[in-house]
Amino acid sequence: MAVERTFAIIKPDAVRNKVAGQILARIEDAGLEIVAMKKMQLSAPAARGFYAVHKERPFFDDLVAFMTSGPVIALVLQGEGAIKQWRDLMGPTNSNDAPAGTLRGDFGTDLEQNATHGSDAPETARLEVSYFFNAGEITDVTEALPPE
Ligand code: RTP
Ligand code: MG
Repeated sequence: MAVERTFAIIKPDAVRNKVAGQILARIEDAGLEIVAMKKMQLSAPAARGFYAVHKERPFFDDLVAFMTSGPVIALVLQGEGAIKQWRDLMGPTNSNDAPAGTLRGDFGTDLEQNATHGSDAPETARLEVSYFFNAGEITDVTEALPPE
């Protein structure tokens, strides 16, 4: 399987509930490499742009209000099959349906306040990483290795 990068957010509910550290520990325990990270307050235009795919959905305004309700932690995660691995770690969208042991099951509340975001495909991962990070903000541990 190829080494991939995916984009993740620790959402405002999880930051507010002081479980960001536990979520970061789960990421590291799972063997995913954190190659970029920043804590930030999303503006409404930034949140609307990020979730533009959902702009016609009835929950869009609520989603933007939630995502701007407090700081988030934006991350780039790297590893073999990172996109699916991170989606599996998060669990299903609705925290009420997410099993114990998943991030949304353990740290989320409901369908909206679900603790984490993860890109759903290689194209969206690339787009979302570049929405939040410049190339120079991403460290790549593989580049630090000596050539074979
Ligand atoms: P995400 O994009 O945040 O990783 O979540 P996802 O792929 O599992 O779910 P998606 O369908 O992309 O929904 C994006 C986020 O919108 C909120 N949501 N609210 N009230 C509702 O019906 C509803 N449906 C979705 C959730 O915060 C969801 O993560
Ligand atoms: Mg999504």
